[in-house]
Amino acid sequence: MTRKPSTFFITTPIYYVNDRPHVGHAYTTIAADVIARFHRANGEHVRFLTGTDEHGAKIAESAEKAGKTPKKFVDEKAEEFKGIWKSLDISYDTFSRTTSPRHREAVSIFLQKLYDQGDIYRGEYVGLYCVGCEKFLTEKELVDGLCPDHKREPQVLKEQNYFFRFTKYLPKVAAAIESGDLVIEPQERRNEVLALIEQGLEDFSVSRESVKWGIPIPWDKKHVCYVWVEALQNYISDIGYGVDPEMFRTWWPADVHLMAKEILKFHALFWPALLIAAGERPPQKIFAHGFFTINNQKMSKTIGNVIRPEAMVKTFGADATRYLLLSQFPFGQDGNIDEKRMREKYHADLSNNIGNLVSRTSQMIEKFLNGSVRPLKHAWEKDVETVREKLQRMDLYGALAGVMKLATLGNQFIDTEKPWIQAKSGAGVDRTLGKLVTLMVDVGKLLTPFMPSIGERMIQQFQSSTIIKSDPLFPRL
Ligand code: MSP
Repeated sequence: MTRKPSTFFITTPIYYVNDRPHVGHAYTTIAADVIARFHRANGEHVRFLTGTDEHGAKIAESAEKAGKTPKKFVDEKAEEFKGIWKSLDISYDTFSRTTSPRHREAVSIFLQKLYDQGDIYRGEYVGLYCVGCEKFLTEKELVDGLCPDHKREPQVLKEQNYFFRFTKYLPKVAAAIESGDLVIEPQERRNEVLALIEQGLEDFSVSRESVKWGIPIPWDKKHVCYVWVEALQNYISDIGYGVDPEMFRTWWPADVHLMAKEILKFHALFWPALLIAAGERPPQKIFAHGFFTINNQKMSKTIGNVIRPEAMVKTFGADATRYLLLSQFPFGQDGNIDEKRMREKYHADLSNNIGNLVSRTSQMIEKFLNGSVRPLKHAWEKDVETVREKLQRMDLYGALAGVMKLATLGNQFIDTEKPWIQAKSGAGVDRTLGKLVTLMVDVGKLLTPFMPSIGERMIQQFQSSTIIKSDPLFPRL
């Protein structure tokens, strides 16, 4: 069954609710929002999924610490995430929660199917488990006996588990990657996944006996589903897997799963294998962007350098926050978020470049042409097209740099044409400003996915029949 070509299904990871949303979660979610908005503007039927991962030992532990029942705790946390996304103007179409009834149902159907066809078997697992990571670690991965990421001693887990015949399906996953049915980007990430397959992997466990807060294994209610295995299934439970075949066919396979590289193995290997085993296609693309540091240090509560999105929105506003996060380093690579540089970039790129261009152009149209100008073709159409191509390829950083270049070209054009002199001599001012007005509408359109309010404001201002000087788009901080 082929899908309607005009649909576009994009997802972020569903975030653990043991923590408050931080700028790392915001980074991926803003990126996905930009891509979703770009595809919507192209007339595609878009479904943008984000949500929260609410089961497992780690969440149960956090709920207990907070003195709340897990249910109450996750309900509050999910609202907190939604609130932050609202303040950042995130236009998700669906908020996927793993404690929802439709998710529980889909997970049960999916697991039962694999069990009935013999792809899940019972075995004993002995291993070191880190609750912080919600995954098993090997001795080799420990540093001084501790999990290197969470600095805590892993538990020795010995329990009866159900295992998925991962190794049986791994060759099919490899074939899907080789053939391009499953695209993994950027290239280094694809190589990393192929190297993991080369190294050899083992069947993995899909259940936990010691955990209570989770979705019961349908044929053995003493166990719950391993939190990662059910979390991945949110991408299909949300679109009606097992209960609404038509909806499922409309949206699956997803066009892109977006995430950072630390959870690539789950998405690029475990998840496609589970899907192929269940007779479904793998997602079309997995894009794993880089991990960033804050002022050159790992972001951590202990170091105390965690940036909260609400603090950024308070300083810069939603639109500029979105711009500043995505313009720090190329999308896909690792990078650093430098708080000082963000302020500098706010002034240099936003106030002085784009903001200044908007204000000069509108002021001159008001002053020299009584606010009325006939839009003319400008000479930068190729640059506009390049930005669009970059957006299409998810080169968000490159696209933003392209928009900045257009603004620079616009400002230079004003400097060389000198409309104030043209206005005196009576020659050419309407042509100069006519080209600029078209440029301003183009820039507004290119900016809209990144900065929804600013972009809209620019389009409205410069498409209006009377153009007047407006308040500064980016007031100085
Ligand atoms: N719950 C799992 C995902 C399940 S998806 C089926 C999880 N949650 S998480 O809350 O830890 O979110 C991880 C994601 O947050 C990363 O993949 C990335 O999208 C984002 N980031 C968190 N910190 C980040 C950085 N320092 N840098 C870049 N991305 C960051 O894993």
